[in-house]
Amino acid sequence: MRCMEPELFTEEHSAEVVAASFAGAPPRLREVLTSLVGHLHAFVKEVALTEAEWEQAIEFLTATGHRCDEVRQEFILLSDVLGVSMLVETINHRAAGGSTESTVTGPFHVVASPPRALGDTISLDGKGEPCLVTGRVTGPGGEPLAGAQVDVWQASADGFYDVQQPGIQPERNLRGLFTADPGGRFWFTTIVPSYYPIPDDGPVGELLGVTGRHPYRPAHIHFIVTVPGYRPVATHLFVAGSRYIDSDAVFGVKESLVRDFPLVDDPARAAEHGLPNPFRAVHFDVSLLPAVSAPRAGGTGR
Ligand code: BEZ
Ligand code: FE
Repeated sequence: MRCMEPELFTEEHSAEVVAASFAGAPPRLREVLTSLVGHLHAFVKEVALTEAEWEQAIEFLTATGHRCDEVRQEFILLSDVLGVSMLVETINHRAAGGSTESTVTGPFHVVASPPRALGDTISLDGKGEPCLVTGRVTGPGGEPLAGAQVDVWQASADGFYDVQQPGIQPERNLRGLFTADPGGRFWFTTIVPSYYPIPDDGPVGELLGVTGRHPYRPAHIHFIVTVPGYRPVATHLFVAGSRYIDSDAVFGVKESLVRDFPLVDDPARAAEHGLPNPFRAVHFDVSLLPAVSAPRAGGTGR
């Protein structure tokens, strides 16, 4: 009797047959590939994919690869607009409460933010509506995290990052690395950021176009906050009421990260921070969890 014969490929058992071919793979790779193939085959069957559609998909992925270089990663952009980046981010940064929520880092953290002193401005060209940003970095019990590194970067009032406009914006415009004071506090001045489009002149932009989607992200300031012994947080501070706050092209908005930027009429405070009066102001506290409490990706977080 012939037993343990490898099963031949059939439509009905296609995924199982391919999965069996991964028997010799390392356990985690086998788990991931088996699941991936299962979902892929189920998808092809569900939509009864035509050969023309399959060819179009291959052409699209090939074009996506061709659009990648040292400064542009079209595959990450694809993952962003399909919500995969946010999903990976969210399941890998499940915080059982107590931590500031994270969101996508995006492609514009490509240069190191220059170290700046507390209170400095990150607006090197002064273009835009002046704004004071204040905040405090704490642990889960509210204890101040002195010396926290607060890395910030944002788009201009015209909706461009400095690296997108060499020769137009000063280098490192709207970027800064701050060190929190003994009370965990940080403060700096800047301008109110604008909403802006993600790079949409490639295959991902084409995908957005044919599906009737816009390429815009609502106005935000990026933050990466790090403290030795704590889980770093990469997040955004979103401008409440910004255009596209309810339809971010990369699904990055979380309600807990949206803040008002009210107009403040306070000549003494304006003078203290070297701002014209009135000025916009926003407060954004960041809470970190100790590194040891990191939940396993894919775990229940309980
Ligand atoms: C950004 O916020 O910089 C960004 C995030 C994802 C895709 C494109 C841009
Ligand atoms: Fe951004």
